[in-house]
Amino acid sequence: MEQGNTKAAAGRTEHLIEVKDLKKYFKVGDKSFLHAIDGVNFTVNRGETLGLVGESGCGKSTVGTVMMRLQPPTSGQVLMNGEDIFSVKGRSEDLALRKRMQIIFQDPYSSLNPKKRIKDILAEAYKIHKTCTRGQLEQTVEQLCQVTGISTDMLLQYPHELDGGKRQVVGIARALSLNPAFIVCDEPVSALDVSVQAKIINLLMDLQEKMDLSYLFISHDLSVVKHISHRIAVMYLGQIVEIADKETLFADTRHPYSIALLSAIPKVDVERKVQRIVLKGDVPSPINPKPVCRFASRCWMSQPVCFEQAPGLRQVAPGHCVACHFAGESRERMKTAATVGLDAEKLE
Ligand SMILES: Nc1ncnc2c1ncn2[C@@H]1O[C@H](COP(=O)(O)OP(=O)(O)O)[C@@H](O)[C@H]1O
Ligand SMILES: [Mg+2]
Repeated sequence: MEQGNTKAAAGRTEHLIEVKDLKKYFKVGDKSFLHAIDGVNFTVNRGETLGLVGESGCGKSTVGTVMMRLQPPTSGQVLMNGEDIFSVKGRSEDLALRKRMQIIFQDPYSSLNPKKRIKDILAEAYKIHKTCTRGQLEQTVEQLCQVTGISTDMLLQYPHELDGGKRQVVGIARALSLNPAFIVCDEPVSALDVSVQAKIINLLMDLQEKMDLSYLFISHDLSVVKHISHRIAVMYLGQIVEIADKETLFADTRHPYSIALLSAIPKVDVERKVQRIVLKGDVPSPINPKPVCRFASRCWMSQPVCFEQAPGLRQVAPGHCVACHFAGESRERMKTAATVGLDAEKLE
């Protein structure tokens, strides 16, 4: 099943999360800074999944870890329920916020204590946050297992005895244990077999419905993001280049980089032969980047202006924003330009 205008998203416009001009620069020399995130803006509504997609190294995980306060931002704000999460002071406010925001990583193995059984791992958060009494603990863990489909046998096992899919279910259960509102899912299925990927994605979607969760779902793979997302943000070298609801992003793709990403998804329909766009040209360095379009060196539509000015993210239709000087050009024209200007492989 794909997420569209499902019950979870319909009629909910209130932003749970607002990210405002978020930047994270890493110092990499005397005067050099690597611009891992460079002025990112987006919102996540209640009960919604925002997919964040882009190639490796474009800054997706940095967005996730800064939002989780695992590392400080260089500048910018993240608001949850209107509250600036970076200015939270005091231990009780901090703990309360930690309960509401959780993260799931690609492989939870490294964060699951190898010496503890699954039941003790799942009980840990309840003990730390004192959200139930000792007497209620067993029953609370049981309830969590029912919701996430963890069997009684699994509870007695150690992390190394589980396969990747089951370990990820434990990672998800642990993230859910404190009843969060928002979860960053950072490539949660990228290390799993395709058949297991579908199970985990379905579980996440099911839990979203049941628990009114909001997700930032990070992946380098647009075909994975497509299934779970209501809206999608495409990221390139530290910046969002296009953001729209899923249907619009696929039907009215405007940024050349998004077009290239879409063209790489294998199509099942053999009648519709698709030209796969193979990007040429150098990826510019994220260290002290010039204030120009960062995609210009690989773009088949680039004009002198692209090497002179950075295109800001601008709205081309309600809810659809694109950072391209030529965002107004029709998609067909862009696709034609793509097949003329680049090596195109026929996918059959
Ligand atoms: N701690 C760090 N110090 C220096 N550079 C970093 C650090 N963490 C990430 N980076 C750099 O920031 C950029 C974005 O990384 P990351 O967010 O991990 O990308 P993605 O998750 O999209 O693959 C990369 O160029 C990466 O090398
Ligand atoms: Mg990453």
